[in-house]
Amino acid sequence: MERSPQILTPPEVARARVTGALVADILQSLRQRAAVGTNLLDIDRWAQEMILGAGAQSCYVDYAPSFGRGPFGHYICTAVNDAVLHGLPHDYALTDGDLLTLDLAVLKGGIAADSAISFIVGRPKSPEDAAMIATTEHALQAGIAAARPGARIGDLSHAIGSVLSGAGYPINTDFGGHGIGSTMHQDPHITNTGRPGRGYVLRPGLLLALEPWIMADTAKLVTDPDGWTLRSATGARTAHSEHTIAITDSGAEILTLPTAAVA
Ligand code: MF3
Ligand code: CO
Repeated sequence: MERSPQILTPPEVARARVTGALVADILQSLRQRAAVGTNLLDIDRWAQEMILGAGAQSCYVDYAPSFGRGPFGHYICTAVNDAVLHGLPHDYALTDGDLLTLDLAVLKGGIAADSAISFIVGRPKSPEDAAMIATTEHALQAGIAAARPGARIGDLSHAIGSVLSGAGYPINTDFGGHGIGSTMHQDPHITNTGRPGRGYVLRPGLLLALEPWIMADTAKLVTDPDGWTLRSATGARTAHSEHTIAITDSGAEILTLPTAAVA
């Protein structure tokens, strides 16, 4: 992560739009298929079929960063209830009221896009789940609204963090958003709280993945014995919302919105 942020050319941004729409449509379609009884390994297989069927490549299968054990080996992150980040798909059938996060990044035309959604499977268990999901979505919108040429990364972090802490949630600063481009994880790192007026100055052609996530009553994570899945230390439930955006001449464009065909 020492290299300076990648600035995309207009043709590259055009390809980023294609990748972004693909990621969003796959997530939307998985959200519609996921039901009580669906196995996380089914979701992983459906993701694999859609990624490869679209002529895209997984950013996850061979990914072996320092924060995980060996290559991820799967096509999508599936995090249930107290699991929040890097959820490794495993043999588990969804039950009524599960809070599911799907996080997907793929590469197509040489450009990556990354997005995550959280939602309830079946009947909601408590209003707190919906409130937590809505808070990460609002924080994401606030981060996007702050993104424009001349703004600094700290302005986005501050906008995101104000919504999260304003709603009463603790914020973990170990994992946050990131630059993205020809690879999934790039500089700059975007913590989910921070001081305005600090950090890298945004410019047109920069792609960012913003990803507010929270745990109901703690900022502390524990790693699952699988070596990948990160869970809340208290067992509390969690939520995560992520979009990839492109900085444009006038503001920011969300690249990971589902197209009309799927929405
Ligand atoms: N897409 C995730 C992010 O939002 C990273 C997942 S890495 C994996 O940054 F290896 F767990 F897949
Ligand atoms: Co990301």
